[in-house]
Amino acid sequence: MAVQAAYHFPRGFLWGTATAAHQVEGNNTNNQWWKWEQEGHTKGTSGLAADWWGGRWKEDFDRAAEGGQNAHRMSVEWSRIQPTPDTWDEDALERYRNILRGLRDRGITALITLHHFSDPLWFFEMNGWENQQAPALFEKFVRKTVEALKEYCTLWCTINEPNIYALSGYVTGDFPTKHRGTRLAMRVLANMLRGHAAAYRAIHQIQPEARVGYAHHHRPMISKRSWSPLDAWMRSLRYNGVNMAFPSGISTGIMNTPVGRFQVPEAKGTQDFLGLNYYSVDTVSFHPGKPRELFTSSELPADADMSTNRFIANIPTGLFDTITWAVQTYPNLPILITENGVEDSNDTMRPRYLAQHIHQMWRAVNFNWPVKGYFHWTLVDNFEWERGWTQRFGLWGLDVETQKRTKRPSADLYAEICKENGLSSEMVQKYCPEVFEKLFPV
Ligand code: BGC
Repeated sequence: MAVQAAYHFPRGFLWGTATAAHQVEGNNTNNQWWKWEQEGHTKGTSGLAADWWGGRWKEDFDRAAEGGQNAHRMSVEWSRIQPTPDTWDEDALERYRNILRGLRDRGITALITLHHFSDPLWFFEMNGWENQQAPALFEKFVRKTVEALKEYCTLWCTINEPNIYALSGYVTGDFPTKHRGTRLAMRVLANMLRGHAAAYRAIHQIQPEARVGYAHHHRPMISKRSWSPLDAWMRSLRYNGVNMAFPSGISTGIMNTPVGRFQVPEAKGTQDFLGLNYYSVDTVSFHPGKPRELFTSSELPADADMSTNRFIANIPTGLFDTITWAVQTYPNLPILITENGVEDSNDTMRPRYLAQHIHQMWRAVNFNWPVKGYFHWTLVDNFEWERGWTQRFGLWGLDVETQKRTKRPSADLYAEICKENGLSSEMVQKYCPEVFEKLFPV
């Protein structure tokens, strides 16, 4: 007979989904991504996206609420709020207030990200985060926005994945950028750290009860050939650049990177929680043809359980390792899993990915580590940056032409998890029996 058991979470645990303005709003014509898309750098264009700016957030928030979600992580679009350096769009702020009221009315706690990969065009034209003035410009936007939205939110995420922003723009060239270079990428990262620190202080000044953090993309890494000292060295180089640079700045006020140190004393201690985005694990090896990546090359572990277009390997223990890293680096700091998910249009892998990752998160919670919430990426299919519409991360599918939403089985699984505040053997039996023995061994 099958085991009957459940992994439960503490009362008050936050269960939600995460989204980002440019990926769901549509018609964000005034930021650098729109320009990049029109220039043909992406697989398709964002267009109407999930049409949240046109009001479809309402039906999607209904879906979230009916699915038992009690929290939502969304971002606001800087280019809408501050369309030019000297103007504020009060209507845009009112529209965000309305959206936030929509969350409140549905009993959903808001977590707002102030910067999620998109910059106003005017900011991009002045070389964006390369510019020394960037932190002060960002702070100005943050002050205005937090002042306007504070009635509806006390949980703030300053910047989403600064490491991925710097790497994907300035190193690999996948994200919009004018210039490239490894040192430049680290300079950009240091400026984002300054921007984060300025925002942290500004938000606390405006709203003393605020809890402020940022979302860190943590990528566990293993060397490709375990016997190779060169791969081991490359692995630690890449690990330090991707995973450790920004957090080191927050720990000590000195951002340590593989290409030098940056003094950012004001960044020390500027977090009330740590947001962790975890998707997958990389293997790292030496590659003579990749000087910009410091001769490192990363790929997914060859023998892993791969997603449809081999973008993500389903390695749930990587989430546990990520949380372990966070707990060891910042003892007692509250942790939110601010993103975790998989692209899977047919929903063949997502149910087991979801169940297995939640199980790993439970292991951490069971050690009494301070994990306070989980935000699945994402609610409805959205525009996946340079990969456009070729990847589908939604619990709900989206037909971009008709705007019709279609529920994937994972939406039901996640609803059961949220409502139960836990993962049960019945759920696993029903949605992903193929991993039953792994999750509930007899
Ligand atoms: C980003 C999201 C993105 C997701 C899946 C994360 O790196 O924060 O914006 O959609 O990965 O690709």
